[in-house]
Amino acid sequence: MLNPSNMNGKVALVTGAAAGLGKATALTLARAGANLCIVDINPEALEQTASEIRALGVEVLVQAVNLASADNCRSAVAAAIKHFGRLDALCNVAAVFMPTHSTEMSDEDWNTTLAVNLSAPFHLIQAAIPQLLEHHGAVVNVTSCAAHMGQAYLAAYSSTKAALTHLTKSLAMEYMHQPIRFNAVAPGGMMTALAAGLRELPNPDTSLLSRISPLRGLVEIDDVAQMVAFLATDAARGYHGAVINIDNGITAG
Ligand SMILES: NC(=O)c1ccc[n+]([C@@H]2O[C@H](COP(=O)([O-])OP(=O)(O)OC[C@H]3O[C@@H](n4cnc5c(N)ncnc54)[C@H](O)[C@@H]3O)[C@@H](O)[C@H]2O)c1
Repeated sequence: MLNPSNMNGKVALVTGAAAGLGKATALTLARAGANLCIVDINPEALEQTASEIRALGVEVLVQAVNLASADNCRSAVAAAIKHFGRLDALCNVAAVFMPTHSTEMSDEDWNTTLAVNLSAPFHLIQAAIPQLLEHHGAVVNVTSCAAHMGQAYLAAYSSTKAALTHLTKSLAMEYMHQPIRFNAVAPGGMMTALAAGLRELPNPDTSLLSRISPLRGLVEIDDVAQMVAFLATDAARGYHGAVINIDNGITAG
């Protein structure tokens, strides 16, 4: 799968790189030799990721922006191309997760969920396609097991992840005859800050939450990062339009 030279001389843009899976993905790609453009709304934590990447001997460009804005998405891609002169991979990892009773969801939270989880990947992909075509590159979108199963209190989040799955497959069809690959990874629960949001939900029906509790335990962040990074490399040339579940069996039944 991923070896220490898969991405030598190549450039990857990773969103959500300040924490959790995005950070692990950026570090995995850096260990495989990639130069990185890392994007996140959290500047302090993003700078920490940047220093860990620099310590691995590759170059890093830091873009601390809010991806809820289409212009910020386009500028982040443009900055990466201007700085490095190329772009080979785009990993859309950033997301927001706002569990709530659906009647309590504010318009603002609904719109933010759609903007960050669905519109941002689309705007980033749109801006990246010309470079990715030139360098036979790849897009990897991180969805969720929530894309494949209805999940209580997560109507907005699950809807965006299902839509991101379909965005991945639709783009894979549109670009079937051209040198660019689109794939998705659908993790189950991982021990990150995002997952902790569910514990703050007031008065949940716990019988509904138990339906999404992982019988075999949580998924290791690094296992998922390895798959996201692998799909970004040429070694994954046979993968196009794939959605890879890494969920410890949660979607098995
Ligand atoms: N943690 C889980 O249990 C789990 C399960 C399934 C899928 N996922 C998916 O994995 C991916 C990574 O999640 P994670 O668990 O590492 O979460 P995380 O909260 O640790 O990381 C998400 C990152 O996205 C960034 N972000 C949020 N809003 C942003 C914005 N507007 N602009 C730019 N950056 C923004 C955050 O600052 C954060 O660094 C997400 O796509 C998530 O949906 C997570």
